[in-house]
Amino acid sequence: MNSNLPIGIFDSGVGGLTVYRALHEQLPDEKFIYLGDTARVPYGTKSLATVERYAVENARFLAAHGVKLLVVACNTMSALALPTIRTSVAVPVVGVIEPGAQAAARASKEQHLGVIATEATVQSGAYRRAIKEVAPQAEVLERACPLFVALTEEGWAETDVARTVATEYLKDLRGRVDTLVLGCTHYPILRRVIQETIGADVRLIDSGAATACAVEELLERENLRRRSFDTHTGQLLKERARARRLCDDLDHFYVTDAAERFARVAERFLGSAPSRLEAVEVWGQDELQSTS
Ligand code: DGL
Repeated sequence: MNSNLPIGIFDSGVGGLTVYRALHEQLPDEKFIYLGDTARVPYGTKSLATVERYAVENARFLAAHGVKLLVVACNTMSALALPTIRTSVAVPVVGVIEPGAQAAARASKEQHLGVIATEATVQSGAYRRAIKEVAPQAEVLERACPLFVALTEEGWAETDVARTVATEYLKDLRGRVDTLVLGCTHYPILRRVIQETIGADVRLIDSGAATACAVEELLERENLRRRSFDTHTGQLLKERARARRLCDDLDHFYVTDAAERFARVAERFLGSAPSRLEAVEVWGQDELQSTS
Protein backbone atom coordinates (compact mmCIF):
# COMPACT_ATOMS: atom_id res chain seq x y z
CA MET A 1 0.00 0.00 0.00
CA ASN A 2 1.32 3.41 -1.02
CA SER A 3 1.40 5.84 1.92
CA ASN A 4 1.08 8.77 -0.49
CA LEU A 5 -2.52 7.83 -1.32
CA PRO A 6 -5.27 10.01 0.14
CA ILE A 7 -7.57 9.14 3.04
CA GLY A 8 -11.24 8.72 2.04
CA ILE A 9 -13.92 10.30 4.25
CA PHE A 10 -17.66 9.89 3.76
CA ASP A 11 -20.95 11.03 5.23
CA SER A 12 -24.54 11.52 4.10
CA GLY A 13 -23.87 15.26 3.65
CA VAL A 14 -22.01 18.13 5.28
CA GLY A 15 -21.69 16.49 8.72
CA GLY A 16 -18.48 14.65 7.86
CA LEU A 17 -16.80 18.04 7.40
CA THR A 18 -16.53 18.16 11.20
CA VAL A 19 -14.41 14.98 11.02
CA TYR A 20 -12.49 16.29 7.99
CA ARG A 21 -11.54 19.39 9.97
CA ALA A 22 -10.30 17.32 12.92
CA LEU A 23 -8.32 15.00 10.63
CA HIS A 24 -6.81 17.94 8.80
CA GLU A 25 -5.69 19.50 12.07
CA GLN A 26 -4.22 16.26 13.40
CA LEU A 27 -2.65 15.10 10.13
CA PRO A 28 -1.76 18.13 8.00
CA ASP A 29 0.53 16.08 5.74
CA GLU A 30 -2.30 13.86 4.54
CA LYS A 31 -4.46 14.35 1.45
CA PHE A 32 -8.19 13.72 1.69
CA ILE A 33 -11.04 12.75 -0.60
CA TYR A 34 -14.46 13.59 0.81
CA LEU A 35 -17.80 12.24 -0.31
CA GLY A 36 -21.10 13.71 0.90
CA ASP A 37 -24.16 11.82 -0.31
CA THR A 38 -26.28 14.97 -0.41
CA ALA A 39 -28.80 13.47 -2.83
CA ARG A 40 -29.88 10.87 -0.27
CA VAL A 41 -29.44 12.68 3.06
CA PRO A 42 -30.81 12.05 5.71
CA TYR A 43 -29.72 8.50 6.46
CA GLY A 44 -30.81 8.60 10.09
CA THR A 45 -34.47 8.00 9.31
CA LYS A 46 -33.84 5.08 6.94
CA SER A 47 -33.86 1.32 7.44
CA LEU A 48 -30.85 -0.85 8.17
CA ALA A 49 -30.93 -2.40 4.68
CA THR A 50 -30.99 1.00 2.98
CA VAL A 51 -28.23 2.49 5.13
CA GLU A 52 -26.07 -0.59 4.48
CA ARG A 53 -26.61 -0.35 0.72
CA TYR A 54 -25.82 3.37 0.59
CA ALA A 55 -22.78 2.91 2.84
CA VAL A 56 -21.33 0.18 0.62
CA GLU A 57 -21.89 2.28 -2.50
CA ASN A 58 -20.11 5.24 -0.91
CA ALA A 59 -17.23 3.11 0.32
CA ARG A 60 -16.75 1.44 -3.06
CA PHE A 61 -16.83 4.79 -4.83
CA LEU A 62 -13.98 6.08 -2.68
CA ALA A 63 -12.05 2.79 -2.82
CA ALA A 64 -12.21 2.98 -6.62
CA HIS A 65 -10.53 6.42 -6.38
CA GLY A 66 -7.50 4.85 -4.73
CA VAL A 67 -7.55 5.62 -1.02
CA LYS A 68 -5.33 3.97 1.61
CA LEU A 69 -7.90 4.16 4.41
CA LEU A 70 -11.58 4.95 4.83
CA VAL A 71 -13.10 7.04 7.61
CA VAL A 72 -16.84 6.55 8.05
CA ALA A 73 -17.52 10.13 9.17
CA CYS A 74 -21.13 9.32 9.97
CA ASN A 75 -22.45 7.81 13.19
CA THR A 76 -25.47 6.27 11.47
CA MET A 77 -23.35 4.32 8.98
CA SER A 78 -20.81 3.49 11.72
CA ALA A 79 -23.60 2.18 13.98
CA LEU A 80 -25.46 0.18 11.34
CA ALA A 81 -23.04 -0.77 8.61
CA LEU A 82 -19.42 -0.94 9.79
CA PRO A 83 -19.01 -4.74 9.44
CA THR A 84 -20.64 -4.68 5.99
CA ILE A 85 -18.43 -1.80 4.83
CA ARG A 86 -15.34 -3.64 6.09
CA THR A 87 -16.17 -6.73 4.04
CA SER A 88 -16.84 -4.73 0.87
CA VAL A 89 -13.52 -2.87 0.52
CA ALA A 90 -9.91 -3.97 0.76
CA VAL A 91 -8.61 -1.01 2.82
CA PRO A 92 -8.76 -0.42 6.59
CA VAL A 93 -11.99 1.26 7.77
CA VAL A 94 -12.35 3.49 10.87
CA GLY A 95 -15.75 4.43 12.31
CA VAL A 96 -16.62 7.27 14.71
CA ILE A 97 -18.61 5.53 17.46
CA GLU A 98 -15.92 3.78 19.47
CA PRO A 99 -13.53 6.74 19.58
CA GLY A 100 -16.42 9.05 20.57
CA ALA A 101 -17.76 6.69 23.26
CA GLN A 102 -14.31 6.23 24.79
CA ALA A 103 -13.62 9.98 24.82
CA ALA A 104 -17.00 10.59 26.51
CA ALA A 105 -16.47 7.95 29.20
CA ARG A 106 -13.05 9.50 29.96
CA ALA A 107 -14.44 13.03 30.10
CA SER A 108 -17.45 12.36 32.33
CA LYS A 109 -16.81 12.92 36.05
CA GLU A 110 -20.12 11.59 37.33
CA GLN A 111 -20.68 9.02 34.59
CA HIS A 112 -24.03 10.59 33.74
CA LEU A 113 -23.84 10.66 29.98
CA GLY A 114 -26.24 11.87 27.35
CA VAL A 115 -26.12 10.88 23.70
CA ILE A 116 -27.91 12.82 20.98
CA ALA A 117 -27.97 11.19 17.57
CA THR A 118 -30.16 10.19 14.65
CA GLU A 119 -33.12 7.86 15.16
CA ALA A 120 -31.25 4.98 13.52
CA THR A 121 -28.17 5.43 15.72
CA VAL A 122 -30.26 5.65 18.91
CA GLN A 123 -32.30 2.58 17.94
CA SER A 124 -29.14 0.59 17.19
CA GLY A 125 -27.94 1.00 20.79
CA ALA A 126 -24.38 1.28 19.44
CA TYR A 127 -23.36 4.19 21.69
CA ARG A 128 -24.83 2.67 24.84
CA ARG A 129 -22.94 -0.58 24.15
CA ALA A 130 -19.67 1.18 23.32
CA ILE A 131 -19.87 3.37 26.46
CA LYS A 132 -20.81 0.43 28.72
CA GLU A 133 -17.87 -1.53 27.37
CA VAL A 134 -15.42 0.99 28.83
CA ALA A 135 -17.58 2.29 31.73
CA PRO A 136 -20.03 -0.45 32.81
CA GLN A 137 -21.45 1.66 35.66
CA ALA A 138 -22.26 4.66 33.45
CA GLU A 139 -25.81 5.92 33.14
CA VAL A 140 -26.64 6.67 29.50
CA LEU A 141 -29.63 8.77 28.36
CA GLU A 142 -30.25 8.89 24.62
CA ARG A 143 -32.33 11.26 22.50
CA ALA A 144 -32.89 11.30 18.75
CA CYS A 145 -32.74 14.80 17.22
CA PRO A 146 -33.56 14.26 13.52
CA LEU A 147 -34.33 17.92 12.69
CA PHE A 148 -30.77 18.93 13.59
CA VAL A 149 -29.54 17.31 10.35
CA ALA A 150 -31.97 19.30 8.19
CA LEU A 151 -31.10 22.55 10.00
CA THR A 152 -27.42 21.94 9.38
CA GLU A 153 -27.80 20.99 5.71
CA GLU A 154 -29.95 24.10 5.25
CA GLY A 155 -27.22 26.31 6.75
CA TRP A 156 -29.51 27.33 9.64
CA ALA A 157 -27.13 26.55 12.48
CA GLU A 158 -27.25 29.95 14.19
CA THR A 159 -30.92 30.79 13.91
CA ASP A 160 -33.85 31.14 16.29
CA VAL A 161 -35.41 28.08 14.64
CA ALA A 162 -32.35 26.04 15.69
CA ARG A 163 -32.66 27.40 19.26
CA THR A 164 -36.36 26.48 19.47
CA VAL A 165 -35.72 22.97 18.15
CA ALA A 166 -32.77 22.48 20.52
CA THR A 167 -34.85 23.60 23.52
CA GLU A 168 -37.50 21.01 22.72
CA TYR A 169 -35.07 18.15 22.03
CA LEU A 170 -32.80 18.76 25.02
CA LYS A 171 -35.37 19.55 27.72
CA ASP A 172 -35.34 16.01 29.18
CA LEU A 173 -31.53 15.90 29.31
CA ARG A 174 -30.98 19.31 30.94
CA GLY A 175 -29.69 18.96 34.51
CA ARG A 176 -29.39 15.17 34.20
CA VAL A 177 -26.09 14.72 32.35
CA ASP A 178 -22.58 16.08 32.92
CA THR A 179 -21.36 15.05 29.45
CA LEU A 180 -23.21 15.06 26.17
CA VAL A 181 -22.04 13.11 23.12
CA LEU A 182 -22.76 14.80 19.80
CA GLY A 183 -23.50 11.39 18.28
CA CYS A 184 -24.10 12.65 14.76
CA THR A 185 -21.35 14.33 12.78
CA HIS A 186 -23.75 17.06 11.69
CA TYR A 187 -24.31 18.23 15.27
CA PRO A 188 -20.95 19.94 15.98
CA ILE A 189 -22.02 22.51 13.38
CA LEU A 190 -24.81 23.40 15.88
CA ARG A 191 -22.39 23.29 18.80
CA ARG A 192 -22.96 26.83 20.02
CA VAL A 193 -26.76 26.46 20.16
CA ILE A 194 -26.53 23.01 21.79
CA GLN A 195 -24.09 24.29 24.44
CA GLU A 196 -26.29 27.31 25.26
CA THR A 197 -29.34 25.07 25.57
CA ILE A 198 -27.88 22.20 27.62
CA GLY A 199 -25.89 24.52 29.92
CA ALA A 200 -22.31 25.79 29.99
CA ASP A 201 -21.20 23.24 32.60
CA VAL A 202 -21.97 20.19 30.41
CA ARG A 203 -19.01 18.80 28.44
CA LEU A 204 -19.78 18.32 24.77
CA ILE A 205 -18.00 15.44 23.06
CA ASP A 206 -17.48 15.58 19.33
CA SER A 207 -16.08 12.30 18.05
CA GLY A 208 -14.06 14.06 15.29
CA ALA A 209 -10.96 14.71 17.38
CA ALA A 210 -11.02 11.24 18.97
CA THR A 211 -11.46 9.66 15.53
CA ALA A 212 -8.51 11.64 14.17
CA CYS A 213 -6.33 10.18 16.98
CA ALA A 214 -7.55 6.66 16.12
CA VAL A 215 -6.69 7.26 12.45
CA GLU A 216 -3.23 8.53 13.37
CA GLU A 217 -2.55 5.44 15.49
CA LEU A 218 -3.67 3.15 12.68
CA LEU A 219 -1.50 4.94 10.09
CA GLU A 220 1.53 4.65 12.40
CA ARG A 221 0.87 0.98 13.11
CA GLU A 222 0.47 0.10 9.43
CA ASN A 223 3.32 2.38 8.38
CA LEU A 224 0.92 4.33 6.16
CA ARG A 225 1.61 7.92 7.21
CA ARG A 226 2.25 10.24 4.32
CA ARG A 227 5.72 11.61 4.87
CA SER A 228 5.93 15.16 3.63
CA PHE A 229 9.68 15.01 3.28
CA ASP A 230 12.23 12.98 1.52
CA THR A 231 15.99 12.90 1.65
CA HIS A 232 16.33 15.74 -0.89
CA THR A 233 13.39 18.08 -0.40
CA GLY A 234 12.33 17.38 3.19
CA GLN A 235 12.39 20.95 4.45
CA LEU A 236 10.40 22.37 1.58
CA LEU A 237 7.60 19.82 1.80
CA LYS A 238 7.35 20.17 5.56
CA GLU A 239 6.92 23.90 5.22
CA ARG A 240 4.22 23.30 2.66
CA ALA A 241 2.37 20.91 4.97
CA ARG A 242 2.45 23.43 7.78
CA ALA A 243 1.05 26.12 5.54
CA ARG A 244 -1.76 23.91 4.25
CA ARG A 245 -5.22 25.33 4.40
CA LEU A 246 -8.52 23.53 4.84
CA CYS A 247 -10.15 22.78 1.47
CA ASP A 248 -7.03 23.61 -0.57
CA ASP A 249 -6.48 21.87 -3.87
CA LEU A 250 -4.75 18.82 -2.35
CA ASP A 251 -8.18 17.76 -1.09
CA HIS A 252 -10.96 16.67 -3.41
CA PHE A 253 -14.65 16.88 -2.53
CA TYR A 254 -17.50 14.98 -4.14
CA VAL A 255 -21.22 15.37 -3.53
CA THR A 256 -24.14 13.54 -5.10
CA ASP A 257 -26.33 16.67 -5.39
CA ALA A 258 -26.62 20.38 -4.60
CA ALA A 259 -22.92 21.20 -4.80
CA GLU A 260 -23.54 24.92 -4.37
CA ARG A 261 -25.35 24.51 -1.11
CA PHE A 262 -22.62 22.16 0.14
CA ALA A 263 -19.98 24.77 -0.75
CA ARG A 264 -21.92 27.47 1.11
CA VAL A 265 -22.22 25.44 4.31
CA ALA A 266 -18.58 24.30 4.02
CA GLU A 267 -17.41 27.88 3.67
CA ARG A 268 -19.39 29.02 6.67
CA PHE A 269 -18.19 26.12 8.82
CA LEU A 270 -14.57 25.75 7.64
CA GLY A 271 -13.79 29.32 6.64
CA SER A 272 -13.19 28.42 2.99
CA ALA A 273 -15.10 26.63 0.27
CA PRO A 274 -13.58 23.51 -1.36
CA SER A 275 -11.46 24.48 -4.35
CA ARG A 276 -12.10 21.08 -5.95
CA LEU A 277 -15.77 20.13 -5.67
CA GLU A 278 -17.62 17.86 -8.10
CA ALA A 279 -21.11 16.43 -8.31
CA VAL A 280 -21.13 12.67 -9.05
CA GLU A 281 -23.33 9.58 -8.89
CA VAL A 282 -22.12 6.83 -6.59
CA TRP A 283 -24.89 4.31 -7.17
CA GLY A 284 -24.93 1.77 -9.98
CA GLN A 285 -21.15 1.24 -9.75
CA ASP A 286 -21.63 -2.53 -9.46
CA GLU A 287 -23.83 -2.63 -12.55
CA LEU A 288 -21.29 -0.53 -14.44
CA GLN A 289 -18.47 -2.83 -13.39
CA SER A 290 -20.36 -6.01 -14.29
CA THR A 291 -21.44 -4.76 -17.72
CA SER A 292 -18.07 -3.27 -18.73
N1 DGL B 1 -24.04 12.77 9.91
C1 DGL B 1 -24.64 11.52 10.03
C2 DGL B 1 -24.44 10.88 11.38
O1 DGL B 1 -23.41 11.10 11.95
C3 DGL B 1 -25.94 11.22 9.35
C4 DGL B 1 -27.07 12.17 9.50
C5 DGL B 1 -28.21 11.76 8.59
O2 DGL B 1 -27.97 11.62 7.40
O3 DGL B 1 -29.31 11.54 9.10
O4 DGL B 1 -25.26 10.14 11.85
